[in-house]
Amino acid sequence: MRHTRMKRAAAIIVLIAVAGLVAFGRVNNDPPTDQEKETAEKTADLLQAEVFAALLQEFGETTPENVEQGKQAVSLIFHDANRDIRLIGNSTPLLGGNNNIPSDQFEQESLALALQGQPNQAVERHGNRWYYRRSIALSNTFHTSCALCHSNFTPQFFEQTHNPGQWVGALTLRVQVKED
Ligand code: HEC
Repeated sequence: MRHTRMKRAAAIIVLIAVAGLVAFGRVNNDPPTDQEKETAEKTADLLQAEVFAALLQEFGETTPENVEQGKQAVSLIFHDANRDIRLIGNSTPLLGGNNNIPSDQFEQESLALALQGQPNQAVERHGNRWYYRRSIALSNTFHTSCALCHSNFTPQFFEQTHNPGQWVGALTLRVQVKED
């Protein structure tokens, strides 16, 4: 009698655990709603404006004298460990490592598009989280100081008068989509 009761209790515990796992799994598997995606896009808009403000500040203050410090400062903003804000391109990286080479399918597609001046975006699942991802194409039209740091860009890049809008790569942003 006692034995049966214990068995029944054990069965109930197992059932609860399985139900919990199924419910948990379902929440994470469900693609985000349109509203959740919109909220993540708004966060990405803010992040984009913030990163551009930082970059314009950096471009504006770069002089032939402080190029090396400027490069180091930029690479600290785009630290290798940060997967949420990245610069990607196909030229030789400025500072060691190859952090700027596209590292997954979204970045490969984004770079191909960026080299033609096209943006890109996607909502994707990584592990058990959903992310909104965005790529913004970068060209020589943004600022004349690019050349001070980027001897790695193509010669065409520097002929701004002949090649306006010469595309070199992309800024990519990644924002986690929050569940309501
Ligand atoms: C103060 C120096 C500096 C200036 C000015 C600068 N960059 Fe960069 N840029 C860097 C550094 C450093 C990296 C590598 C960042 C990293 O570690 O991820 C980089 C990376 C990039 C990449 C990724 C591909 C690659 O070649 O590494 C692109 C694209 C890029 N920059 C575009 C631009 C454009 C366009 C401009 C001008 C509007 C510009 N940069 C101006 C320092 C600079």
